[in-house]
Amino acid sequence: MQIAIIGTGNVGGALATQWSKKGHHLNLGVQDAQNFKGKKLLQNPNTQVFHIAEAVAKSEVVLIATPPTAIFDIIAMVGDFSGKIVIDATNTVAKKPEPYATVYHCLTDKTNAEVVKCFNSTGFENMLNPVYDSEGIDMFMAGDSQKAKEITKQLALDCGFGTCWDFGKGDKVELLEKFALSWINLAIIQGHGRNLAFKVIKRQ
Ligand SMILES: NC(=O)c1ccc[n+]([C@@H]2O[C@H](COP(=O)([O-])OP(=O)(O)OC[C@H]3O[C@@H](n4cnc5c(N)ncnc54)[C@H](OP(=O)(O)O)[C@@H]3O)[C@@H](O)[C@H]2O)c1
Repeated sequence: MQIAIIGTGNVGGALATQWSKKGHHLNLGVQDAQNFKGKKLLQNPNTQVFHIAEAVAKSEVVLIATPPTAIFDIIAMVGDFSGKIVIDATNTVAKKPEPYATVYHCLTDKTNAEVVKCFNSTGFENMLNPVYDSEGIDMFMAGDSQKAKEITKQLALDCGFGTCWDFGKGDKVELLEKFALSWINLAIIQGHGRNLAFKVIKRQ
C-alpha cells in the first residue's frame, strides 16, 4: 500500500518504520525535503520523501502525526483529499484546532476523505515495539468510515499490535483522545514510565 506520512517525528517515524518492514511504500510528506525531523527514515526500505501535497497525491492512505493546529496548513497545501483514507494520530493535549474539538472533526468537516482516529492512544515507543511478553498490545480506533477502519485495522496488525478495537463512531473520537490522556496520566504524570500499555481482557 502507498502510505503518506505527514509529520515524520516520533509517531510518524515509528509507524513508517514498522510499515516499511511489512513491504508498504512510504511517502514522507515534509515541508522542507532538505531539512526535516526523521531524515534517517530514508534508510528504511521502500521510503521516499516528497513535499506534502505530492506525498498525499501518490498515496491511498495518509497518516497525520503533527501538532493538531498544523491541520489547517496541511489541508490548504493538499486541497483535494478525494478517495483518500486519512488516519488522525494526533491528540489535542495542549492546543485544539479551534473551532474544532479534534483534527478528526476538522478533517470530516473540511475534506471528503474517509477519516479514522487511530494510533493516538499509546506512546510512540509502543508503536515501534508493540510486543510485551511475546504478545501484541491492543490498539483502538474510532470514526464513521467503515472502509477506513478496515484498512487501519490491518495496518495496526502490520505494526505488530495484537488487535485494533473498534472504539465506536465519530461520537467516540473525543473519548479516544481522553483514553490517550489516561495513558499519559499513568505513564508520565503518575510516573509509571512509557513502557506501559493497554490490553483488553474478556471472559469467555
Ligand atoms: N509522542 C507520542 O508518544 C505520541 C503518541 C500518540 C500520539 N501523539 C500525537 O501525535 C502527534 C505528533 O507527535 P510527535 O511526538 O510525533 O511529534 P514530533 O516528534 O514533534 O513531530 C511532529 C512532526 O510534525 C511536523 N509538523 C509540525 N508542524 C507542521 C506543519 N505546519 N505542517 C506539516 N508538518 C508539520 C514536524 O515537521 P518538522 O520537523 O519539519 O517541523 C514533525 O515531523 C501529536 O499530535 C501528538 O499529540 C504523540
